[in-house]
Amino acid sequence: MFASLGELDQRLRTTGYIADSLATSTVYLATRLQKPLLLEGPAGSGKTQLAYAVAEAADTAVERLQCYEGVNEEKAIGKFDESLQRLCVELKAKSANVDWESLRTELHSQHFFSAGPLLRALQRDTPCVLLIDELDKVDYAFEALLLELLSVWQLSIPKLGTIRAKSIPFVVLTSNEERRIGDPLRRRSFYLRVEHPTAEREAEIVALKTPESSQEFHAGMAGLAKALRGWSLEKPPSVSEILDLAQALKVLGTERVTADMRDILLPLLAKTEADRRKLLLRDGFASLVYDAQQYSAETLRRGIA
Ligand SMILES: Nc1ncnc2c1ncn2[C@@H]1O[C@H](COP(=O)(O)OP(=O)(O)OP(=O)(O)O)[C@@H](O)[C@H]1O
Ligand SMILES: [Mg+2]
Repeated sequence: MFASLGELDQRLRTTGYIADSLATSTVYLATRLQKPLLLEGPAGSGKTQLAYAVAEAADTAVERLQCYEGVNEEKAIGKFDESLQRLCVELKAKSANVDWESLRTELHSQHFFSAGPLLRALQRDTPCVLLIDELDKVDYAFEALLLELLSVWQLSIPKLGTIRAKSIPFVVLTSNEERRIGDPLRRRSFYLRVEHPTAEREAEIVALKTPESSQEFHAGMAGLAKALRGWSLEKPPSVSEILDLAQALKVLGTERVTADMRDILLPLLAKTEADRRKLLLRDGFASLVYDAQQYSAETLRRGIA
């Protein structure tokens, strides 16, 4: 997918995804060695987006399997299109001499199978990105189904047979760690933790999304994020929430968060009742704003992009 680490780094940047050097080198090695990449980390830290950014950087498509409790083989791999099969039988039955044996074979061919994302990914002429998103929402039985795919790049489908990959996709598995992903899948994958970014990287991300704003604003948002994450909140804000906050400030026509903005900003920053109470404490928000200013000044001193 990528000829060199430098090429991946540069192409990822042009997609607007700011990855750290460890993430970039892990993606590079995983693509070169055809290993799945397991991404774990808090909500909103950029796991799903990384898969899309890699696909854009490689100029290829994403096949996405969104996992949820109860997702089954039919959703993931696909199923025979029964109404099409029935229609075919009805049409054939009208002709005088039907070869039922060959009809049976035809009905169980790929023509009558509507493929799900796992099968579609294997059938592409050139490698795509196969995103298996939020794998922690499924049970172990479903995980086991993926092992064949990720080990030998083939799928065994009842009545259809074994389908081998035309091209080997770059597989990205993501998890919010609601359930521990099993060791067999871990063994086959490279593992990358996607944590909240450093203040410098966060300022860069904010700068990419709000290029018209000042460096002080970008560093200010990153400073506030760092301050909030130091507050032992139940649900510390993620990059995506900081980007929402940046947009909200634009709508409010300001580039600075001040202590008197507590009530209007609280719904964007505190997402549980305990966190809301914490930020409502007397002087709580004011000291948060103070910490944020310190971090922001530090970030500016160290220099941001
Ligand atoms: N490194 C980054 N560079 C640029 N944008 C980022 C980065 N990380 C996160 N974002 C922004 O945050 C948003 C949310 O990221 P994403 O949906 O990938 O998070 P996630 O880790 O998949 O969260 P969840 O676990 O809730 O699904 C993205 O749409 C993107 O705008
Ligand atoms: Mg996600």
